[in-house]
Amino acid sequence: MLSFRLKAIVSMVPESETVADIGCDHGKVAVWLLKNGRAKYAICGDLSGRSLDKARKLARSKGLCDAVSLREGSGFDVLEMGEAQTAVVAGMGGELIASILEKGKNKLPETLVLSCNKGSGLMRKWLSENGFAIEDEDLVLENRHYYPVIRARRGDSKPLNDMELEFGPVMLQKKTKLLKYYVNHRIDQTKTIRAKLQKTKAERKEKLIDEIDERLNAYAKVLKCL
Ligand SMILES: C[S@@+](CC[C@H](N)C(=O)[O-])C[C@H]1O[C@@H](n2cnc3c(N)ncnc32)[C@H](O)[C@@H]1O
Repeated sequence: MLSFRLKAIVSMVPESETVADIGCDHGKVAVWLLKNGRAKYAICGDLSGRSLDKARKLARSKGLCDAVSLREGSGFDVLEMGEAQTAVVAGMGGELIASILEKGKNKLPETLVLSCNKGSGLMRKWLSENGFAIEDEDLVLENRHYYPVIRARRGDSKPLNDMELEFGPVMLQKKTKLLKYYVNHRIDQTKTIRAKLQKTKAERKEKLIDEIDERLNAYAKVLKCL
């Protein structure tokens, strides 16, 4: 029932009394967590009433209506302080997830499980600057897209360098084969941008190319360690 990406997300969720799934859409994450005893209660939040209808339908079909609270609203607005021990925020861009975390700052639970389709550096930056330590990470390739998955817990956060922001401090330690593919993928993308830039008459072209070359060097150093 779950895709590889959703499987990676749910497997990062620790056993919790109540889990909040912010931006739940289909509601598959909450239903899996309840059915598999990972949570006793789930709060499913979404901006869209249509998404909540999907989540309601799924919960009903699994006989879980009493274990799910469906709430329409933005980010952590739908949550009371201390209501959940864990929140999942997944399937959006890293920039949006970071802004949802920033707006909900005072209501965030102890544990966050985050996954985005792009811009994971912004999510990690927010965590490192706001007292959340990255505890575990995973990387999933699905439909030719890479999806990082992060579990962070309130605690001693530390500053992260550029490569840790982009690829994840735990992923860099795990040194998986998929991370190697992902770094190569980023190198290819960056080279394509460089080649396009070379052909333009952009004002700051030389400076931008220097910055890209610096980044390519940093990627090459990461690759050597994998
Ligand atoms: C692509 S779906 C992801 C669903 C699920 N979390 C997943 O990972 O498969 C994104 C969902 O986030 C919701 N969403 C977008 N911005 C939101 C916000 N600020 N607060 C709550 N939900 C939001 C959208 O309505 C949509 O249902």
